[in-house]
Amino acid sequence: MTVPGLVLRPWLEADAPAVEAALRDPDIARWNPQGGPVDEESTRRWLRRRADWSAGDHVSLAVADDVDGSLLGSVSLHDIHAADAEIGYWVVPAARGRGVASRAVELLTRWGFEQLALHRIQLCHATANPASCRVAERAGYRVEGTLRESYQYGDGRRHDEHMHGRLATDRWPAGATGEWPG
Ligand SMILES: CC(C)(COP(=O)(O)OP(=O)(O)OC[C@H]1O[C@@H](n2cnc3c(N)ncnc32)[C@H](O)[C@@H]1OP(=O)(O)O)[C@@H](O)C(=O)NCCC(=O)NCCS
Repeated sequence: MTVPGLVLRPWLEADAPAVEAALRDPDIARWNPQGGPVDEESTRRWLRRRADWSAGDHVSLAVADDVDGSLLGSVSLHDIHAADAEIGYWVVPAARGRGVASRAVELLTRWGFEQLALHRIQLCHATANPASCRVAERAGYRVEGTLRESYQYGDGRRHDEHMHGRLATDRWPAGATGEWPG
């Protein structure tokens, strides 16, 4: 799947060094906690899980630069069940602030509705993570409520979270790319 500037592709073993560095980034470690130490072995497990779609419950993709192929981030549909799914994402520090997450989330969302016939996709983020809230809003995921102290993040604290949801029948927000996956 591509939009100008980005390719969404399956994970490769060769991504291991870039993934290990990303999972060690303090913001990713805080907001996308792995539940244990990040090392070569845990990174290999992380990649193996995401490269194996055989259970049918997730679609996990690397976000790469469409020119030089460098790893920009991660986006995944997970907990896919009965036309529902959750979406998750992170972007490496060097690629932040230029629309990578919002475009990748929009692209995978469109693909999930179109190709998997999903009806609803949702995501939760800590209210202390406003960047993730903007990504969700940019990709058309409305805030549906606040969950109180609902998840323990990488800083060891339980945080309040926003629940965002998007339905296949929702209109796309102004500024969405309107491009369909190639
Ligand atoms: C959150 C994250 C994915 C955003 O990725 P990104 O590619 O930089 O996001 P985008 O460039 O698409 O920006 C989307 C919006 O977020 C806003 N934004 C980016 N960083 C922000 C920040 N620190 N505070 C507030 N808004 C921020 C952008 O301005 C943009 O909003 P706009 O369109 O109104 O200008 C990235 O910062 C990240 O990986 N953070 C650590 C891990 C994480 O938070 N994962 C999500 C867990 S739910």
